[in-house]
Amino acid sequence: MDFNIALLRGDGIGPEIVDSAVVILEKTAVRFGHRFVFTPYLIGGCAIDATGKPLPQETVDGCLASDSVLLGAVGGPKWDDQPGDNRPEKALLGIRSALGLYTNLRPAKLYPALRAASPLKDGIVGEGFDLMIVRELTGGIYFGERGYRQGRFGEEAFDTEAYSVTEIERIGRVAFDTAMKRSRRLCSIDKANVLESSRLWRKTMHALAEEYPEVEYRDMFVDNAAMQLVRDPRQFDVIVTSNMFGDILSDEASQITGSIGMLASASLGASTRGMYEPIHGSAPDIAGQDRANPIATILSGAMMLRYSFGLAEEADCIEAAVDSVLNAGYRTADLMGAEEGAPLSCSEMTQKIAEAL
Ligand code: IPM
Ligand code: MG
Repeated sequence: MDFNIALLRGDGIGPEIVDSAVVILEKTAVRFGHRFVFTPYLIGGCAIDATGKPLPQETVDGCLASDSVLLGAVGGPKWDDQPGDNRPEKALLGIRSALGLYTNLRPAKLYPALRAASPLKDGIVGEGFDLMIVRELTGGIYFGERGYRQGRFGEEAFDTEAYSVTEIERIGRVAFDTAMKRSRRLCSIDKANVLESSRLWRKTMHALAEEYPEVEYRDMFVDNAAMQLVRDPRQFDVIVTSNMFGDILSDEASQITGSIGMLASASLGASTRGMYEPIHGSAPDIAGQDRANPIATILSGAMMLRYSFGLAEEADCIEAAVDSVLNAGYRTADLMGAEEGAPLSCSEMTQKIAEAL
């Protein structure tokens, strides 16, 4: 089959890791007789440099015209003093919203081969864990009313967390459906003891739970969830939460898997077009040095094949290649201690995975 893929390489290590994923996708296409056509577009700091804006209209149009989008990362110190509305990160929010990608799937699993890289003790991770964070992606405080006003102590800045029943229901359905396909355990995370928006979130989730009697559902406050994730991650299977809580908890979940360099994500909306990106950032400190871990982006490419193109066998094949390379002991720098020998570079790791395909 033929597919058009928009490439948003972005900034920092973005270009290196996206190019690694392209190598793997190309090889997969050849092996299974597909054709992927890649078209690059600017986003983030590089777009500011070239056009003055972090999200040029051409990029939005190109993504809308594609079958799916693969993104690296955006941002870096060079653009830190851009006004809030012109920051590279704003482009990420803009493209998520323009493509209607209200669901963000962030799987976090501990690879047995990376057991030693997890900061958690053996007794806590046991045989490992495998969880799926379902993060709401186009609502909440990231998109609420914001600004400056006169407050009790003079001028103040404010951001607003707001959720409608419609938004909660649509992300809730994705989470319940996801739970049905996995171990049927769902935990919804909120701050309903304090926030009104969380109380509506919880009420709406409870109503949905009635429709999914086979799902073992529970709620948890976000502060407790942050603690439970490091105390006993195996108690979780599918987690559903708001945009900001999902941002924070997915970084925590990634760290207990050993490295944030391993975690892929899929952003999905009502159509099959999605955007796929590693959950880590642009790592400007190691950009251009061929030291980044390309695995999160390669696995994001696999998620694209699975969720947008319905190519499950091809996706399995990429994931198996990653497994086998890790099992064979190959590591990038983020996955090993200083005394463990020489790490593979980004391009060497890509090569190993390509050979294993
Ligand atoms: C993420 C990132 C983004 C977010 C930033 C860069 C806007 O942290 O994808 O997790 O907060 O969503
Ligand atoms: Mg984040």
